Amino acid sequence: MKRTAIYPGTFDPITLGHVDVVNRGLKLFDRIVIGVAENPKKEPMFALEARLKMVRETFTDAPKVEVVSFTGLLVDLAHDQKGDAILRGLRAASDFEYEFQMATMNRRLDERIETCFVMAREDYTFVSSRFIREISGMGGDVSELVPATVAPYLK
Ligand code: PNS
Repeated sequence: MKRTAIYPGTFDPITLGHVDVVNRGLKLFDRIVIGVAENPKKEPMFALEARLKMVRETFTDAPKVEVVSFTGLLVDLAHDQKGDAILRGLRAASDFEYEFQMATMNRRLDERIETCFVMAREDYTFVSSRFIREISGMGGDVSELVPATVAPYLK
């Protein structure tokens, strides 16, 4: 039986921390569908199309990884994609409260879909899309924290 995980996020932009989560997820699942959320409430810096392109270009050589965008509920995306689980990464304890709330809410919405957490590699514990945007916006070098595909978009 093939197991599919949905890896949702805003990916504004995708970081090497996200890539690490996908690679860990590939050890557990046969197929990973990355769901790039439109998330207008977060007022993303990059338009949905650009975020989608960055993620797609990052995983062009990964046949078990698919990339889609979504606008509604995550559990609806999981149904559409025949997902068995939601995959999320945990960095520090500070992530826990938000992740716990989301996982609990998603379970309320659909009891059948488990949320599965993997721990990000130590090097990426403090990497976040927010810091990437801030540092690169101020001229700092983030090339070791994002996939090579992201650099042209940050310029
Ligand atoms: O990378 P992010 O910004 O932490 O990802 C947040 C995301 C996209 C996972 C979350 O906003 C989400 O699931 N949005 C879809 C709307 C939804 O299903 N909400 C109910 C679950 S709390």
